[in-house]
Amino acid sequence: MSYQRPYVLVYVTSSVDGKIASRTGDSRLSCPYDLRRLHRLRASLDAVMVGAGTVIADDPRLTVRYVRGRNPARVVVDGRLRSPLTARLFNDGEARTIVLTSEAGDEGKAEELRRRGVEVVVAGKGPRLSGSEILSALARLGIRSVLVEGGGDLIWSLVREGLVDEFRVTISPFIIGGAGARTAVEGEGFGEKEEWLGLTLANYFLCECGEEIHLIYRRREPTRY
Ligand SMILES: NC(=O)c1ccc[n+]([C@@H]2O[C@H](COP(=O)([O-])OP(=O)(O)OC[C@H]3O[C@@H](n4cnc5c(N)ncnc54)[C@H](OP(=O)(O)O)[C@@H]3O)[C@@H](O)[C@H]2O)c1
Repeated sequence: MSYQRPYVLVYVTSSVDGKIASRTGDSRLSCPYDLRRLHRLRASLDAVMVGAGTVIADDPRLTVRYVRGRNPARVVVDGRLRSPLTARLFNDGEARTIVLTSEAGDEGKAEELRRRGVEVVVAGKGPRLSGSEILSALARLGIRSVLVEGGGDLIWSLVREGLVDEFRVTISPFIIGGAGARTAVEGEGFGEKEEWLGLTLANYFLCECGEEIHLIYRRREPTRY
């Protein structure tokens, strides 16, 4: 890779059975302590990034509210510009907001977003952007660290190319089930074990709520088992 890519930290909160939302799209898995933990990280990295599916399902603000701290830049990966213009993060003026799209994105919608002060960046031919197209666009925008909050589709774009430095999961005490419910990593996934992305456990602790476990994994060098 010929550019200095940003540090990539993925953070998801999942049910015990690995779902990050139910089949109806309900993703209210975090306790208040988990939210504070997430917001502390938001305040400490340059950017927070989600896919269009998360904007459509949750209409997130992606600001720092539960702790004191500055808002990171907000990045939406939206190859076809499906996110609604009414999304809160396009209209609240709370932080720098960037949409990474592709040549497949509607130019009229891109212009409308720019009128609202959103930076719209065409990062590839598309409609899917590769993990390296996403990270090189972020690097060009001066972003050196990014918190990836989901969903599973965006996370797969980065995982498939091994572009994740840290993977944090809070396990929330629920079972959601459902073949159609989203998991932390979607896409086609890896096949044989030799392809799987190896991680090494860096830390873990019981959440202050007494019911959730927080796991911090780092990327493992391929040679170590
Ligand atoms: N529990 C948690 O921690 C947590 C966190 C975040 C989200 N969620 C949940 O996750 C669900 C959404 O997950 P998801 O997997 O559907 O959504 P997602 O990754 O947020 O968004 C998927 C959509 O975003 C666009 N996108 C993603 N990666 C792209 C890429 N590399 N290039 C171009 N476009 C890309 C695509 O739009 P097009 O199809 O138009 O190309 C894709 O369909 C929601 O229910 C949300 O509540 C849970």
